Amino acid sequence: MRAVIFAEYGVPSVLKVVETGLPEPGPGQVRVAVRAAGVNPIDVKVRSGSMSGGKPLAAPRSLGSEVSGVVDAVGDGVADVAVGDPVAGWPVGGGYAEYALMSVYARKPDALTWEQAAVLPVAGEAALRSLRALKTRRGETLLINGASGAVGALATQIAVADGVTVVGTAGPANLDRVRSLGAAATAYGPGLADRVRELAPQGVDGVLDAAGHGALPDAIALRGGVDRVVTIADPAAFDLGVPFLSGGPEDQTAEVLRTLLEAAAQGRITPPAAHGMALDQAVQAHEQVEKGGAGKIVLLP
Ligand SMILES: NC(=O)c1ccc[n+]([C@@H]2O[C@H](COP(=O)([O-])OP(=O)(O)OC[C@H]3O[C@@H](n4cnc5c(N)ncnc54)[C@H](OP(=O)(O)O)[C@@H]3O)[C@@H](O)[C@H]2O)c1
Repeated sequence: MRAVIFAEYGVPSVLKVVETGLPEPGPGQVRVAVRAAGVNPIDVKVRSGSMSGGKPLAAPRSLGSEVSGVVDAVGDGVADVAVGDPVAGWPVGGGYAEYALMSVYARKPDALTWEQAAVLPVAGEAALRSLRALKTRRGETLLINGASGAVGALATQIAVADGVTVVGTAGPANLDRVRSLGAAATAYGPGLADRVRELAPQGVDGVLDAAGHGALPDAIALRGGVDRVVTIADPAAFDLGVPFLSGGPEDQTAEVLRTLLEAAAQGRITPPAAHGMALDQAVQAHEQVEKGGAGKIVLLP
């Protein structure tokens, strides 16, 4: 099968498409013929080496942490899906490939396209986890920095549906889209705290920084401290005393997947609009994600 790997950290062109053996599903795993693989900012950070702590890459590795596809083989003990079933989830050992293994997956509802199902696991799980950490309640006001992004837009929709008033930030081109999700919208950047005070004179009960880019001082000013301020993206959090939320395997459950896929299938959340690129275009996909403003990208093997 064809798969994207990289043998050294660096610029997008370190990504290479190679021929490699078909992975065999272990106990509890399924192998899927990948229909769509989400490209996430984390993939770009891993490839660049910015998360390696300065250590060189020990061996070639794959990328990609969310896929949708058709079950192609099942490992021992798998009884909930069969060959031919459509599923989505978190791949084990990379998703930028023609085939991927998954231990945690859920059935893809017919109402969702392969692209829509593929872009929900990473951003959707992060959105749910962040809102849970903030303990937002009906009637409260939440600032979401980066409400136009994959995580931010899903968090906005989930919070609005739960009766939370959301003020969301975005770039100028995306303010109307954030408003269409049911939030008040304002541009990110200098003067953010003042603009948010105008939109939410009642104050904000929590802040989710889903973008990074230096918004935490404004968030802390708005809250009068770090209480109920969280980020998933800004390493400045460690100096500022703000929780940096990182997900782990314990957060990646089939129940979370089912929640997200069903909410999308029933129209309660709209997955990020994704545009597809061929596996061969992984380099260009990473270049676009690095440049920003390209929207969500899925690789279509
Ligand atoms: N810790 C975790 O568990 C976790 C999980 C998932 C993602 N993440 C991280 O969360 C971040 C967002 O992920 P994503 O998938 O939602 O990415 P994304 O779809 O690319 O969204 C990026 C967001 O950042 C905004 N943005 C761009 N430049 C900005 C600036 N100068 N100031 C403020 N906002 C700016 C974008 O706004 P416009 O497009 O409107 O300009 C957009 O809303 C990434 O850093 C990702 O690695 C962390």
